[in-house]
Amino acid sequence: MPTKEKMPKADVRASLYPVPVTLVTCCLEQQVNVLTVSWTGILCSSPPTVYISVRPERFSYHILKASLKFTINIPTKGMLHSVDRCGNTSGESTDKFAENGLTKVTLVPGYPPCIEECKHHLFCDVVSVLELGSHHTFIGLVKHEYADADCISPEIQYDRIMPIAYCRKEYYGLGEKLGRYGLVS
Ligand SMILES: Cc1cc2nc3c(=O)[nH]c(=O)nc-3n(C[C@H](O)[C@H](O)[C@H](O)COP(=O)(O)O)c2cc1C
Repeated sequence: MPTKEKMPKADVRASLYPVPVTLVTCCLEQQVNVLTVSWTGILCSSPPTVYISVRPERFSYHILKASLKFTINIPTKGMLHSVDRCGNTSGESTDKFAENGLTKVTLVPGYPPCIEECKHHLFCDVVSVLELGSHHTFIGLVKHEYADADCISPEIQYDRIMPIAYCRKEYYGLGEKLGRYGLVS
């Protein structure tokens, strides 16, 4: 028997905290776009596989579907306003890079440019698209990974990246390192 009361939620939702806020870049020929994506995560360590889930009505969707490549950029908490704007404006009518002072850099030829102001970048090849419902899930093999040099020592230091988490319409800060895997052994 539980020792404290647990209440069922009337509206069951896919709610997990924390999930990261990312800026996903995609491109098709001369068209380069960025959108904010939080429905993202790791699927497999080897081969390194991640996913992004995108609604088909997004302008970016057809770019992703046609190009089968995406770059995940991890913004730092100082970029919160740009993150929010990139998630509330469309590349169909706006140059979100210019509007938000975001710098496109071609770090890996053949992949969508990364956003220089972000600190961690995953360059992905789409290997499968799952049409799940409201969102379609692009499964991506991570082919290249980069991070700001001052955030690697020798692993990526997320307390230096200071990513943003998102849940139920709220943004949260992350960052404090609590310990290392295996601390009980
Ligand atoms: C914090 C945040 C997270 C978001 N996560 C997603 C997501 O995971 N999938 C998605 O399809 N849209 C997501 N959006 C909405 C898109 O970013 C938004 O519709 C954007 O305007 C689409 O840009 P586009 O029209 O240029 O493709 C998110 C928006 C915000 C603000």
